[in-house]
Amino acid sequence: MSTKNIDLTLKVWRQKGTNVRGRIETYYAKNISTDMSFLEMLDVVNEQLTLDEKDPIVFDHDCREGICGMCGAVVNGRPHGKEQGTTLCQLHMRHFDNGDTVVIEPWRARAFPILKDLAVVETADALLVSSLSNTQGVKKIVDALKKDNRKETRSHIKIIQSWGFIETIDSGENFQVRKVTVLPNASLNLNGHLCQAVNWNVLEGKALLHIGDKSIELITHQSFSLDAGKSVKLENTSRMPLVFIEIASGIDTGKDHFDANG
Ligand code: FES
Repeated sequence: MSTKNIDLTLKVWRQKGTNVRGRIETYYAKNISTDMSFLEMLDVVNEQLTLDEKDPIVFDHDCREGICGMCGAVVNGRPHGKEQGTTLCQLHMRHFDNGDTVVIEPWRARAFPILKDLAVVETADALLVSSLSNTQGVKKIVDALKKDNRKETRSHIKIIQSWGFIETIDSGENFQVRKVTVLPNASLNLNGHLCQAVNWNVLEGKALLHIGDKSIELITHQSFSLDAGKSVKLENTSRMPLVFIEIASGIDTGKDHFDANG
């Protein structure tokens, strides 16, 4: 199939936060290659919005290979668009015609509150599913886990904060590995624990760290180590989400050490 470039009119749902009223806004995606994926087309629109000093459109994604299931939006009234069995990251622009108007909205379900624009809260926690007649059995399992002081009854894989969210990747007796996403223009404080060291590796975006009277900028692929007992203020001053991996080692790594700033 030959490649061509197309122009589109986008009607995109914009919403600043969970409890803020949203609205549809119009954007023009010009000169879009039909070889691009839908998310790459949104990247192009976001680049222009950033150049125009406007907030880019926030949307969920991770692998961009149709594997993780993180991406998703409703395109022209259909979840992930009209191509059957295709995730949004695998939907290609060759399925659109020059001059099309495309309406892009987040999932609209009570169980998935909107975090910002097209990004929704997905609870990645484990579920115990049973038939209606066996619900007492589920209660017994939860009670048994509680009795054994198992962390499954109190810890959550994805924790939503006012400044972004934290996803736990792995944890053990003396360590915890988490993926932390900080929304554009958000900031937070890490209050260091005397018996805990923390290391951050930036995957996407830019972080501005303030330690005492010193400031450090961290960009993609750079890392930072915070010694036990030290505190730091972290700012995402950019217009894109900041994503980093945190490795905490020591005592009490399960305790949350982040505070919203201000
Ligand atoms: S980003 Fe992973 S499936 Fe689309």
